[in-house]
Amino acid sequence: MVKTTLRVLLSVAALFIAGTVWSLTPAEQKIADRIKPVGQVCVEGEECEGAQAVATAAVSSGPRSAEDVYGSKCFACHDTGAAGAPKVGDAAAWAPRVDQGLETLVSHAINGIGGMPPRGTCSDCSDEEIQATVELMVERSQ
Ligand code: HEC
Repeated sequence: MVKTTLRVLLSVAALFIAGTVWSLTPAEQKIADRIKPVGQVCVEGEECEGAQAVATAAVSSGPRSAEDVYGSKCFACHDTGAAGAPKVGDAAAWAPRVDQGLETLVSHAINGIGGMPPRGTCSDCSDEEIQATVELMVERSQ
């Protein structure tokens, strides 16, 4: 008799606990939304101050890396050999060019030569960005 009563009491208690744990009231749901990690709430296209701050910092953070310049402009010809461009990584194609000296290479890259357009189509690249990119290309072509 005592055993049965205890069992009934336990199962009632279990149901009660399950009920409170698993169903969130609208107010509780609001709190759950508010304490979600920021990354989940911030969706592209929606207003999001954190993401904007990050984007602005990326734009105004000084010269682009040689990898960025190469990967956004120069690769179009120098990965493929398009327009007769010496391919990066092709040591034989680069050796006679490298022999001209870095200064000449950089000046040709800035002013253009033959099928090589001035600044390799990176019209807003600074001389320093072009030089760093030429150095990277030469480094990868030895
Ligand atoms: C539209 C295609 C094209 C793009 C884009 C391009 N290049 Fe070139 N590049 C060439 C061609 C073609 C040559 C070979 C020119 C020649 O010697 O007649 C060349 C040659 C060069 C040379 C060797 C110059 C010399 O004196 O032998 C360098 C250095 C160079 N490019 C750097 C770059 C850099 C840096 C970029 C990106 C900022 C770039 N190129 C983007 C086509 C391109």
